[in-house]
Amino acid sequence: MSGKHIAKEQPKSFIFSEINLKKKDEILKKYPEQRKKSAVMPLLYLAQKQNDGWIPLAGIQYIADLLEVPYIKVFEVATFYTMYNLAPVGKYFVQVCTTTPCMIRGSGKIVDMCKKYISEKEGHLSEDKKSSWIEVECLGACVNAPMIQINDDYYEDLDEQSAKKIFQSFNDDSLPSIGSQKGRKGSEPIRDRLTLIKN
Ligand code: FES
Repeated sequence: MSGKHIAKEQPKSFIFSEINLKKKDEILKKYPEQRKKSAVMPLLYLAQKQNDGWIPLAGIQYIADLLEVPYIKVFEVATFYTMYNLAPVGKYFVQVCTTTPCMIRGSGKIVDMCKKYISEKEGHLSEDKKSSWIEVECLGACVNAPMIQINDDYYEDLDEQSAKKIFQSFNDDSLPSIGSQKGRKGSEPIRDRLTLIKN
């Protein structure tokens, strides 16, 4: 995986909205006062949700100030985990699993499709600014590999045709149904439940 893309254009300031200030207080209540720095991950996630899917550097500073820790401590967390984006993401944010089971089942081709239909560079917006993609580690749906996550939904059992159909559907906001793109339910056998039937 390449290094995380950090937006060149950054807002000068960041503060939580009224509603997120209340959520921030709820999050902090889960930790003893002297351990409040442990709230760094949910607070970063809250900042990301508020800011259309990415955390500006001013947001990292804001959280560092809230938790009374050095900026670098929050920056380290934000740059380590793929769940945090430090540059704008598209309306359709695609996370491609490239861990071993997905890799064996062809995730390399899905990455190629992302480069072709979204953006040559990982973590960069498409030309129409509607989508972006990154590679991630296992998303826990290995039984239906290869798979991708788009925003909060999983698309599984992919191949080049189904991936192309999904990426092209961004143009007119007509995404196919979530789940297996080969029509199987969950991870049931692809040709129905015949495992115990003698051929
Ligand atoms: S390896 Fe891709 S979901 Fe687990």
